[in-house]
Amino acid sequence: MPKPLRKAVLPVAGLGTRFLPATKQMAKEMLPVVDKPLIQYAVEEARAAGIEQFCFVTGRGKSMLVDQFDVAFELERVLTERNKAKELEALREQALPPGAIVSTRQQVPLGLGHAIWCARNFIQDDPFAILLPDDLMLCDVSCTQQMAEAYQATGGNVVAIEEVPKEHVSRYGVIAPGATQGNLVEVKGLVEKPPVEKAPSNLTVIGRYVLMPEVIGHLSKFEKGAGGEIQLTDSMAKLIGAQPFHGLRYQGRRFDCGDKAGYLEAQVAFALSREDMAPAMQAILKKYA
Ligand code: UTP
Repeated sequence: MPKPLRKAVLPVAGLGTRFLPATKQMAKEMLPVVDKPLIQYAVEEARAAGIEQFCFVTGRGKSMLVDQFDVAFELERVLTERNKAKELEALREQALPPGAIVSTRQQVPLGLGHAIWCARNFIQDDPFAILLPDDLMLCDVSCTQQMAEAYQATGGNVVAIEEVPKEHVSRYGVIAPGATQGNLVEVKGLVEKPPVEKAPSNLTVIGRYVLMPEVIGHLSKFEKGAGGEIQLTDSMAKLIGAQPFHGLRYQGRRFDCGDKAGYLEAQVAFALSREDMAPAMQAILKKYA
């Protein structure tokens, strides 16, 4: 029986240059979709999968991401005085239990692999999930829950994968697929941002992972990969053969909220998925169609 999955690392130390000037003062992960910041969607998705311990890998100016999960006493008092029971309940639900969240610092954004290495003392020798909050998931069953089930079934590393048009592969980590069983694809190789002609498939890794702690040993070597960054993909690739490694074709939709067009699409899709917002969004779409 594999160890239970209770820990998640959320790397949020990136600079968010594609979203300047919005991200000059504010963390990209605080951008709201409808009325909720990206970081909160990620935390709720992980909690729905039984994750109890969170580590945010932050950088300068990112403390507000941790504060978002604090108790806001003044706000609670005002809401109580104004009889706003629904808002108060929603606010209380989002606070994490005491001690559930820690943050660590990645002083210089040297790459996603380096960000994960910064969480090594939190990970210790446990399996852990990684959620990149700018990949926003719209799924009936929490994407992290789907990943956790795949981990329980395989007892090893799992990355969420999706198919992209061949000409887009060089933006992503790409898997070399082996045998397929249902939604699970055996991973035989992994390469970060390959040129189109060298890509082993058009199955790409998105921002959801369940990894075994042994990946930290490989990350400790600080080897630079694509774009001169310490890439997570390169260290994950070293686990292949030594441990089970699978790609999961998750059920649901992903929105790349680190990209302006992806972010705008997420606003539309999430509004349409909510009973309270769908009529207003439909009216807006009609007006501009
Ligand atoms: P991105 O590739 O989206 O980079 O990182 P970014 O800096 O956030 O955004 P752009 O490209 O400049 O607009 C993917 C994820 O990895 C984290 C980011 O915070 C994001 O969640 N990351 C990336 C780190 O935490 N540290 C890094 O050194 C690099």
